[in-house]
Amino acid sequence: MGHISWFQKKLIFVPVLLFLTLIFFLYKSCQNDGKSSLLAQTREDIRELNLQISKLKELQGLTINNNYNNSYNAAAQLPTIYFITPTYSRYTQQADLIRLSNTLKHVPQLHWIVVEDAPQRTSLVENLLKASGLLSTHLNTETQGKLVRKKNEQRWKRHRGVDQRNHALAWIRTNLGREREGVVYFGDDDNTYHLDLFSEMRTTKIVSMWPVALVGGLRFEGPICEGGRVREFFTAWMPERQFPVDMAAFAVNLNLLTQHHPTAAINPEVARGFLETDFLQQLKINVEDIEAKGNDCSKILVWHTQTAKANMKEEEKLRQKGLPGSDLTVIV
Ligand code: UGA
Ligand code: MN
Repeated sequence: MGHISWFQKKLIFVPVLLFLTLIFFLYKSCQNDGKSSLLAQTREDIRELNLQISKLKELQGLTINNNYNNSYNAAAQLPTIYFITPTYSRYTQQADLIRLSNTLKHVPQLHWIVVEDAPQRTSLVENLLKASGLLSTHLNTETQGKLVRKKNEQRWKRHRGVDQRNHALAWIRTNLGREREGVVYFGDDDNTYHLDLFSEMRTTKIVSMWPVALVGGLRFEGPICEGGRVREFFTAWMPERQFPVDMAAFAVNLNLLTQHHPTAAINPEVARGFLETDFLQQLKINVEDIEAKGNDCSKILVWHTQTAKANMKEEEKLRQKGLPGSDLTVIV
């Protein structure tokens, strides 16, 4: 008989109900899975956006609040700082120049004159200058004659960066109009520069000066000042020099070099330690003419840091074994 009893109905109904319940829960859990992965994705997106927002805020803060880089229009009114950097090829060259360019990027109205001690300008330096976006002039001149360092000779035995600084001075004298307001500074590639150094030197009328840290075997060395003038010099080495200071210790007004002393140059013939004093003597200045900077020379604005020579021991071992060493197509 086709008649289905109540009991039989119940028997069918229960599995159907169970099946439907299962389907419902399966559906729900799928929905939840979708939801939770969507939620995770959204959270990830929000995190990413927040990161970007904080980066943008940082950038905005930099351009609005940065004392060193106020407004470009205001910057154009400032005297230009001509920052002369001799540089030569060694393992740490790119690192030193990158660090320096990162500093100089914070300085308005600065013209970086980079002079390579090399027979040709290298693409390493060229690319670095281009990427920096800084106003720069890329020159080269190879160190000549007596100043060329012999193989394995200690570095301090010969003056360094002399021909390169003179090449930059020659470039300045040929290329800059006489009416131009500016300041010239010899900034080596491995020193550390406080950003305040630039605002201090920018107002140099004749020659300005400040102490340099970590040089001459001392914590710092340089002028001792009072009332904006140099009273005496603090140095341990050859105090008989008229201006016993490091190259990083002074800046010179552009006109003094282009108009008043158009032949003044770093003299490679002088004895060790006499480059600076000899150059300043050529400018016919007296100690009384020097403008003291850095809160009467009480503040360190530049450190004569020296980058450690890179250790290539393992590269050499590999090469001795006839192995190629690290990938030379990677520019270090
Ligand atoms: C110290 C001073 O800080 C220099 O200003 C001064 O020229 C030098 O002594 C000296 O008496 O000749 P220091 O740290 O001992 O400098 O020398 P480096 O930093 O090795 O060289 C000074 C500059 O010349 C650097 O910018 C460097 O890249 C460059 N240089 C060095 C060359 O262009 N060619 C070289 O063969 C060596
Ligand atoms: Mn140095």
